[in-house]
Amino acid sequence: MEKLVRKNIESLVAYKVDAPQYDIVVNANESPFDFPMQLKRKFCDDICNTDLNRYPEACFPELLAELTGYTGVPQEGIICGSGSDELIAMINQAFVDPGDVVVSHTPSFAMYDIWATISNAKHIMVDDLPGHIPDVDGLIAAACDTQAKILYICNPNNPTGYIFDQDDIIKMLDAVPSLVVLDEAYIEFFGESNVDLLAKYPRLLILRTLSKAFGLAGIRCGYALGNKDVIDILYKVKGPYNLNVLTQKLAVIALKNRTEILRNLEILKAERLKAIAVLEALPGITVFPSGSNFIYFETTKAEAIFEALLKKNILIKRFAESQSNPGSIRFSMGKPQENQKILEIIKEVVYNEA
Ligand SMILES: Cc1ncc(COP(=O)(O)O)c(C=O)c1O
Repeated sequence: MEKLVRKNIESLVAYKVDAPQYDIVVNANESPFDFPMQLKRKFCDDICNTDLNRYPEACFPELLAELTGYTGVPQEGIICGSGSDELIAMINQAFVDPGDVVVSHTPSFAMYDIWATISNAKHIMVDDLPGHIPDVDGLIAAACDTQAKILYICNPNNPTGYIFDQDDIIKMLDAVPSLVVLDEAYIEFFGESNVDLLAKYPRLLILRTLSKAFGLAGIRCGYALGNKDVIDILYKVKGPYNLNVLTQKLAVIALKNRTEILRNLEILKAERLKAIAVLEALPGITVFPSGSNFIYFETTKAEAIFEALLKKNILIKRFAESQSNPGSIRFSMGKPQENQKILEIIKEVVYNEA
């Protein structure tokens, strides 16, 4: 088997995660709020009236119409994927040849690197400046010097939560020769999309998802917004029926009822502010500003905090220490009582282990 597998796949670790068996799960930046019951019932009715023996719509026309209503981007400038994960795969399939360069800032979303590895591309990861400030000039230099095919900008960034100023995004778009993939998976938590830049920049592609603010990680629905030319290229590599009929139906219901669903954003944003204030008051913790539904902080007590929470059946995300990082934690906002419990446990660890 070793002789058959592509060399660059050998080093990859399979993404096999256990089903969450915890009382509180805040490690994957999901919404803590389930989809409203009356909308689930509407979905069941729709499914009862759907022929499941037929393939789904290959190009999801109803969903595109709803996405146009939500984003303002014409249907010809939108393509959907089984999560934005699949869109990242499609971007690689369409644009990245073995040996090509892709550039991203780091730390950021792991799938950019995984797909670069699968594509046998060279991935240049530009370190943040001290204090987790994205190195915009460093990114421009890396993309220009190597004629990079792709420049990823994650905004708000996962895991640090930082936001790129629109001026910096424009500076990068003006300078680099690459396809600029702006990942807006968490944009609803910040509130200001850069979708207006699509009109001027044909090499800009924006990734979005229903997994986060819409609370629909379970249905796997992401979408990309771009210029018709770029979207047409992505359609060439799209699998014939990549969005199953259940996903398409539920996504349409979600978008039609977005005012109700997105009301949860206000709760989560208020929780984020409260949690940041609590953490900022703790000694030995450096909290970073977040435009997202999660908070990222650095501390030498990351392992103790992770273990203490795990003992109480709470799962957060811990990042291992490195030379530039004493250890760090990211957790997404749960329901208010859940956040309170998490913060109390963090406080206990910080004071007891002082
Ligand atoms: C920055 C970023 N982009 C994309 C994704 C993938 O989202 P999806 O569920 O749409 O595949 C995630 C998921 O955590 C993410 O953090």
